[in-house]
Amino acid sequence: MTERPGPPIAMLAELTHRCPLSCSYCSNPLELTARERELPTDVWARVFREAADLGVLQLHLSGGEPASRRDLQDLVKAARDANLYVNLITSGIGLTPARLDALEAAGLDHVQLSLQAIDAEKADWIGGYSGGFARKLSFAGEVRQRGIPLTVNAVMHRHTIDDIDAAIAFAADLGARRIEVACVQFYGWALANRAALLPSRDQVTRAKSAVAAARRAYAGRMTIDFVPPDYYADYPKACMGGWGSTGLNIAPDGTALPCHAAATIPGLRFDRVTDRSLAEIWYDGAAFNAFRGHEWMQEPCRSCARRDRDHGGCRCQAMALASDPHAADPVCHHSAARSIVDHIISEQTAASPPFIYRSHKHQ
Ligand code: SF4
Ligand code: FES
Repeated sequence: MTERPGPPIAMLAELTHRCPLSCSYCSNPLELTARERELPTDVWARVFREAADLGVLQLHLSGGEPASRRDLQDLVKAARDANLYVNLITSGIGLTPARLDALEAAGLDHVQLSLQAIDAEKADWIGGYSGGFARKLSFAGEVRQRGIPLTVNAVMHRHTIDDIDAAIAFAADLGARRIEVACVQFYGWALANRAALLPSRDQVTRAKSAVAAARRAYAGRMTIDFVPPDYYADYPKACMGGWGSTGLNIAPDGTALPCHAAATIPGLRFDRVTDRSLAEIWYDGAAFNAFRGHEWMQEPCRSCARRDRDHGGCRCQAMALASDPHAADPVCHHSAARSIVDHIISEQTAASPPFIYRSHKHQ
C-alpha cells in the first residue's frame, strides 16, 4: 500500500507554448498547445489559489515564453494574492521596461533569465532568433536596476560547455545572485537534437573542474548550481525528487502532469484542472499515483539500497531509452539497458550535426 504523499512544494505553470525563440534544446513536447487552447486568466487564478491551499509555496511561471501572454501581470498579481512566491522563467524577449514595471507592481518576487551563450552570434544561432541576445542584456540590466533577485539559467551542451567559466563570470557581471549551469536534458525537442548537443566525456570533466574553481572564487557572492549530463553518471538523478512527491506541472491547456515529459508515457490518464480540483488530482489522480512508492518497481530497483534515494531515476527517460516506464533509468549502471546509453555516447562524432529547429507555426 502506497503511503499518502505530503503536499507539493512547487508548481510549474506552463502558461503558453508560444515563444519567439526556437532553441535547439527545448524540452517542450513535439506537439505544442495552440493559443486557442490555453487556460484563460480567471482559471489560472483559481488554480493558483487551489495550489496555495494545497500547500504549494513556490510558483514558477514558465512556457514557452510567459511574456507571450498579454495578461502576465494579472497572473503574477493573482499568484501573489494567493500568497505564492512568484518566479518568472523568461528569455527576457518581449518584456519592455514598462511591462517590467507592471510585473514589479504586481509583486513579482524573482526572475530566472535563460542565457543561450555569452556572445550574440552564438546565442542567436542556438536560440534561432536574431537580436535576442542584445534584448536579453538590456532586460537583465532593467531587472537589476529594480532590485529584483536574478538567477541566470545557462544551458550547457557541446557548443557551450567549454565557455562555462565565461558564462559564470558573465552572470556575475549581470548582477545574478545565482547561476544554474545545467547540461541539456534530453526530453521533447532536445531529444531530436541529441547528437548535436551531447557534450563529450572530456568536456564534462573539464567543466566539473571549472565549476569547482568558480565556486571557490565566487563564494559568498553568487551561488553556482551545476547539473552535469546524467549519461556520464553511474547512477540516475532523482527526477522530480520522486514522482508525485514534491512538485507538479500544469500544461498550457490545464493538463496536470507529474513531470515535464509525463505525457510521453503511454497509458497514463491525466486529469485537467478544469475537471477536478488540484487537491483531488494530486492525491487521487491516476497519473500522480502511477509511480509513487515502490510497488511499481521492477528489479534491480525493487531490492536496491538506493531506491529511496533516486526512486529508480527518471520514468520518462526509462520510456524514451528502454521503452519501459517501469524499468530502472538506463543511466544506472545496474540497468540491463545501460548499453543503450553507452552506445549513444560511443556514436558521438567529432563534427556536430546541424541543429533541427522547430517552427512555431501554431502561433
Ligand atoms: Fe536507482 Fe534502480 Fe539503479 Fe538502484 S537499480 S541505483 S534504485 S536506478
Ligand atoms: Fe518525467 Fe523524469 S522527466 S520522470
